[in-house]
Amino acid sequence: MKLTGLGWRGSRTSVTTIPRLTRVADIGVAARDHDLHAVAAPVLTGMTDQRNISRTVRHDHALASRCIRRDHIKPDAEKGNRHMMTGANTPLPVDLTGYKVAISAGANGIGKVIADSFAYCGATIFVSDVDTAALDRCGHPGMIADAGDPAQCEAFVDAAIGHLGGLDVLVNNAGIAGPTALTEHVTPEELDATLRIDLASMFHMARRAIPALRANGGGAIVNLSSAAGRFGFALRAPYAAAKWGVIGFTKSLSIELGPDGIRVNAILPGPVDGPRIRAVIAAKAQAAAISVNEMTERTVATTSLKCFVTQQDIANMALYLASPFGGTISGQAIGVDADMQSTM
Ligand SMILES: NC(=O)c1ccc[n+]([C@@H]2O[C@H](COP(=O)([O-])OP(=O)(O)OC[C@H]3O[C@@H](n4cnc5c(N)ncnc54)[C@H](O)[C@@H]3O)[C@@H](O)[C@H]2O)c1
Repeated sequence: MKLTGLGWRGSRTSVTTIPRLTRVADIGVAARDHDLHAVAAPVLTGMTDQRNISRTVRHDHALASRCIRRDHIKPDAEKGNRHMMTGANTPLPVDLTGYKVAISAGANGIGKVIADSFAYCGATIFVSDVDTAALDRCGHPGMIADAGDPAQCEAFVDAAIGHLGGLDVLVNNAGIAGPTALTEHVTPEELDATLRIDLASMFHMARRAIPALRANGGGAIVNLSSAAGRFGFALRAPYAAAKWGVIGFTKSLSIELGPDGIRVNAILPGPVDGPRIRAVIAAKAQAAAISVNEMTERTVATTSLKCFVTQQDIANMALYLASPFGGTISGQAIGVDADMQSTM
């Protein structure tokens, strides 16, 4: 294997050499022998253009340095939490020019970062949400559609296909936290709403999208599950049941659609830094009569990497799975969770 010239400055990088580093072992050897930490970047992101390789490698080198080296991380006096500083903060640089992407609940939170990231990579976007103000300011075309209503799910997918002129990718992102209560205190209405929005919506949207994806000659469906789809989650049984259900749905649909070239995967986010988890931590801290910092530390302690993940980390996995570089990945439930080991 000839690796001469694979510097991260990339000036003499051969585009014909790079694709030969197809095994993780090769990438590791290249990185070790040449001190080329970033040599994996163009392979993983699949950039095939010399200029893009150079740019990608520089970009990822800087990013990876920030992520991997932690000795520069200082406690933040205001937040009192040094862990909020890890994870990706820029989109994975894959070229998705011309991709047509529908994203449910794309006006806020993870869904918005996913929408922004696909747009950054050249895709055209259509989002849904129930928050009119957020939809107006999110910067993406879209419509009001309640994921808890089958007819509105179908209307959203139809509108996306009409607006985009077809469909390559469906991201089933909509999901609510559901009730926090002992199961005996969960009302039928709360259970129903959680299962409708977090699980049934994915059936309804996928059912409607499948003919368009098939007509397109293939595509990708990305479903947002959760680390709660991998563990038991006391006081959150409806949410955990829905998120486990998403994985069963994902794996079943993948088998059904594989022959059509349609890949179906689930992302299982762990503790994602953002308003949602900060609110949950604050509420839990109050309930446990401990400080927010203490509860934050306990949350982070559930992960092997002792950090939160970013919304961008989740979006980057969606980009990867939707791109040709995820072309042989289907039926998978992929944790983006800093190696979470429990839900506390
Ligand atoms: N944030 C986390 O820590 C985390 C962890 C694991 C999994 N997830 C999953 O990731 C996905 C996104 O989570 P998030 O934290 O960004 O969510 P969020 O609570 O921030 O909400 C994002 C958007 O969903 C919209 N929404 C709410 N109900 C809706 C409905 N019925 N129909 C359409 N849109 C609706 C909201 O208006 C908002 O714009 C969800 O499926 C969630 O379960 C999140």
